[in-house]
Amino acid sequence: MFNMLQTHHLQFLAILFLYTLTCSETATTSIPQELHIGFSVTPESWTTPFQAVLSDHSGNFSLGFLRVNQNQLALAVLHVASSEPFWVANPSHAPSWSDNTRLFFNGSLVLSDPETLVLWSTATNGDRVVLLNSSNLQVHHNGIPLWESFHFPKNTLVQDQNFTSNMTLLSSNGIYSMRLGNDFMGLYENHVQLYWKRTPLGAKAEVKEGQGPIYARVNPEGYLGMYQTTDEKPTDVQKFNTFQQTSSFLFVRLEPDGNLKGYYWDGSTWQLNYQAITEACDLPRSCGSYGLCTPGGSGCSCLENRTRFEPDGCFKDVGGESSGDLCSSEGIGGSKSSYWVLRRTGVEAPHKELVRHLTTSSWADCEGLCQNNCSCWGALYSNATGFCYMLDYPIQTMVGTGDGSKVGYFKVKKEERGKNRVWIRVGVVVTVLVGVGVIIIGTGFCVTRWRKRRGVKEEEWGSPGPYKNLGSASFRFIEMSNAHDARGDACAQS
Ligand SMILES: *[C@@H]1O[C@H](CO)[C@@H](O)[C@H](O)[C@H]1NC(C)=O
Ligand SMILES: *[C@@H]1O[C@H](CO)[C@@H](O)[C@H](O)[C@H]1NC(C)=O
Ligand SMILES: *[C@@H]1O[C@H](CO)[C@@H](O)[C@H](O)[C@H]1NC(C)=O
Ligand SMILES: *[C@@H]1O[C@H](CO)[C@@H](O)[C@H](O)[C@H]1NC(C)=O
Ligand SMILES: *[C@@H]1O[C@H](CO)[C@@H](O)[C@H](O)[C@H]1NC(C)=O
Ligand SMILES: *[C@@H]1O[C@H](CO)[C@@H](O)[C@H](O)[C@H]1NC(C)=O
Ligand SMILES: *[C@@H]1O[C@H](CO)[C@@H](O)[C@H](O)[C@H]1NC(C)=O
Ligand SMILES: *[C@@H]1O[C@H](CO)[C@@H](O)[C@H](O)[C@H]1NC(C)=O
Repeated sequence: MFNMLQTHHLQFLAILFLYTLTCSETATTSIPQELHIGFSVTPESWTTPFQAVLSDHSGNFSLGFLRVNQNQLALAVLHVASSEPFWVANPSHAPSWSDNTRLFFNGSLVLSDPETLVLWSTATNGDRVVLLNSSNLQVHHNGIPLWESFHFPKNTLVQDQNFTSNMTLLSSNGIYSMRLGNDFMGLYENHVQLYWKRTPLGAKAEVKEGQGPIYARVNPEGYLGMYQTTDEKPTDVQKFNTFQQTSSFLFVRLEPDGNLKGYYWDGSTWQLNYQAITEACDLPRSCGSYGLCTPGGSGCSCLENRTRFEPDGCFKDVGGESSGDLCSSEGIGGSKSSYWVLRRTGVEAPHKELVRHLTTSSWADCEGLCQNNCSCWGALYSNATGFCYMLDYPIQTMVGTGDGSKVGYFKVKKEERGKNRVWIRVGVVVTVLVGVGVIIIGTGFCVTRWRKRRGVKEEEWGSPGPYKNLGSASFRFIEMSNAHDARGDACAQS
């Protein structure tokens, strides 16, 4: 009895000890709040998803190694309670999670490995690294910031972070970006196709020409504002659901679906409180390439009405972004031989006001303009307005309107004679040959055994055999079915 109690006691102590140990690993007290020259750290060999290196004084944020793809890492600033990365460094290649990778501070904060030496560096001559309670990572010299992570956003903009015209937000899949124009904020697909545009509405101040570029900032009062450099008041206010309510922390992120979304921290999770694009069909790729999105919840289908919808696009082999352009295809000027044509009524482009258009007198004229231009992938015509919209990029999702006066013309690239195709074909041929080989060998094996059982001599194999006299066409069927029976028989016996 006493022994048992003692064992329990020891176990309890051991658990308590381990608990304290694990806690102290994550406790803010053990993580430094500033780094000085000479600091160096390598990833530990734990399977931990995140290894903190530096903490802000509130303990809300940490700089550290974030595990990605199992055995690689990213240098990231994380919101600790939710593990949301707010900033990540942009190294020349992803470092491995091993003691070859090292983060050190010698005036510059440097991420290095033995092969590349410098994977990423702040290229500064500072004396201290600090993480502010805004999640801004800074390299200081005599208290003056020389470098700050707020100037190098990835896909996230936190509250009070200034987004200027020489910055870009990039979605994690690299497809979508956000930039500022002279007098607007835009979301782009593949860096060139504008699919969402916000022009200041002159909320509290007008945009004045020649007064410097605009910048944007998430205001803690609950909006995404656009400002002119010389002016403190916003020229534009995009209100969040929590507008003028006090919420602890806000950020916006360019999501992999191309939407810009805003979130607030409710103390335990991030709550959505803003979306730049509210209608799913207005997202650039809501139903993939050559998809058709029908507003009102009926979801996705294909522009080609006999093709079954697949989440990754309706014609997988012509894939959206990878298929290059029609001009370089066989046939000068993207001749008709390089594509086939798909037409559909009752469709229009999402964000059509941002699509280049001109006026033509008829649908045929509109189609003709696209047909003869290899930069054109499709054209949409509105009979009511005479507008002809030209799509200068591979076709993504269109919106179904049910309005028969709106018609679409789309080029679908034919199979490429590219490298991939050749290899796919080679693969198919090899597979077929191997398959046939296996069948022949297998059959041979069966037949040989069958012949052996019936005392047929090995030398006779290869000669026409017992059916050599049945040469006429009328007997061929019998010959074959007999052979099949014989084979089946032999295999069934073996
Ligand atoms: C810090 O180290 C990097 C990499 O070794 C080196 O390129 C850089 O010159 C060093 N910076 C300073 C200020 O010593
Ligand atoms: C950061 O800390 C300062 C005081 O040091 C405080 O006034 C401010 O509200 C804090 N900011 C955030 C986002 O918590
Ligand atoms: C953002 O810009 C405003 C106006 O230029 C400036 O007052 C503020 O300090 C900037 N914020 C940060 C975090 O740099
Ligand atoms: C971005 O532009 C501002 C002026 O608008 C300039 O002061 C700053 O140095 C630029 N930053 C970079 C990284 O080019
Ligand atoms: C930051 O920490 C304070 C105090 O622990 C907490 O109330 C607040 O919700 C935290 N903020 C975020 C964004 O995690
Ligand atoms: C599919 O489209 C073709 C050509 O536009 C049309 O003739 C046909 O009626 C459509 N079929 C269905 C089931 O909608
Ligand atoms: C072909 O289309 C491109 C892009 O839409 C346009 O810039 C060009 O002028 C067009 N060429 C002709 C000959 O119409
Ligand atoms: C297109 O418009 C013309 C005249 O504006 C009209 O005659 C024709 O019926 C319309 N066609 C369709 C399909 O709506």
